[in-house]
Amino acid sequence: MMRWSVFIVIQCLIILMLIGVFYSHQNHMILLKEPPTSLSQWYKPQNKRQVWLHTMFRLRRETLAIEIYALSKDDKNLRKWMEKLSKDYREIKEMVPEWEARLDLAVINELQANVNDKRYEEVIQSLLELDKNCEACHTDFRTVTASLYRAPDFSNIKIDGSTSLKLHMRTMSKQVNQIKIAYMDGKQDTALTAYRQLEKEMNRLGDTCSTCHKDSSQSYPNDLMISAMSDLEQSLKTGTIKDQGKALGTLAVMVCADCHGTHRLAYDVKELLGKSENWRELLKHNF
Ligand code: HEC
Ligand code: HEC
Ligand code: HEC
Repeated sequence: MMRWSVFIVIQCLIILMLIGVFYSHQNHMILLKEPPTSLSQWYKPQNKRQVWLHTMFRLRRETLAIEIYALSKDDKNLRKWMEKLSKDYREIKEMVPEWEARLDLAVINELQANVNDKRYEEVIQSLLELDKNCEACHTDFRTVTASLYRAPDFSNIKIDGSTSLKLHMRTMSKQVNQIKIAYMDGKQDTALTAYRQLEKEMNRLGDTCSTCHKDSSQSYPNDLMISAMSDLEQSLKTGTIKDQGKALGTLAVMVCADCHGTHRLAYDVKELLGKSENWRELLKHNF
């Protein structure tokens, strides 16, 4: 009898401790739902195509077609698109069994019945209901999925086959700042030397773009960048400090910030979300 109650007290203490740990950290955490790993088979590189995304595009097209044909009371086409929608919607639970419970089969059946009975106004109502179901899943999973599975991955990109991208970035960042420090302190030669090094490192970075950009649409540096580079060089030789600041700023936006807006942001998020849970990290108090 005695042992039993001690056991219960210990259980309660453990639960209280867990609740305490959770509450003391909740203000510092962003909680996200993780999509089931079975989703990965519908994305590159496991799949040749982005199958999941294309299923989604079809769902959007099918709901739009149903709306159009319900409004124009075109029964034949309405039925045709309803059949497609029903198939693709149910396909979700075949593709990702863990998401079966996220589907609203009652709504899709109701929509089907309304289509069968030519109740055009009710068809529109059911579509609105269905849209709520689509949105509920998107709110939970859309952004995380797109970041995890579709953001371009830079983890294997190496400069000249050896230097990591991160290290190369640090080098270029140093050079940009060396240019600035040198011209601010009136050291023209040092500024020009750093400028030439930066130019060289940019070209080396540029060689990696074609790993993914097969056509030359993303040549780096491109013509605009090259002309901004020569503006900076000219300015370092003959310009005022103000001109030099402007030329360097223009160049940095073009050759660093634009790419960061696309690639660094998306890659950082992908990396962050791809990290598996780390309880030690979670329990540390130094946020
Ligand atoms: C069980 C979860 C789930 C349900 C239900 C769902 N989707 Fe999605 N949908 C997703 C996920 C995950 C993505 C993100 C895919 C990506 O970006 O690679 C997505 C993305 C999309 C996209 C691309 C969005 C964009 O702006 O790039 C469209 C369009 C779409 N869904 C349409 C629909 C429609 C229409 C329905 C309802 C008939 C629906 N989805 C139901 C999970 C779901
Ligand atoms: C790991 C593959 C990969 C590498 C390496 C890569 N890109 Fe991209 N890039 C992409 C993809 C895929 C897109 C399409 C948009 C997206 O999905 O983010 C893109 C889009 C872009 C965009 C925005 C869209 C556009 O066309 O304007 C820019 C700018 C860009 N890349 C520049 C570069 C530059 C510059 C390099 C080399 C320094 C580079 N990328 C290297 C995969 C890559
Ligand atoms: C491919 C397009 C691209 C271009 C062009 C680019 N960067 Fe980056 N940069 C990235 C990516 C991706 C990362 C994230 C790398 C990582 O975390 O492994 C990054 C990270 C960085 C970092 C952080 C490195 C660290 O220590 O974590 C710095 C600093 C940086 N870039 C500076 C620059 C400068 C300066 C330029 C221009 C001269 C530049 N980058 C041009 C894509 C680019």
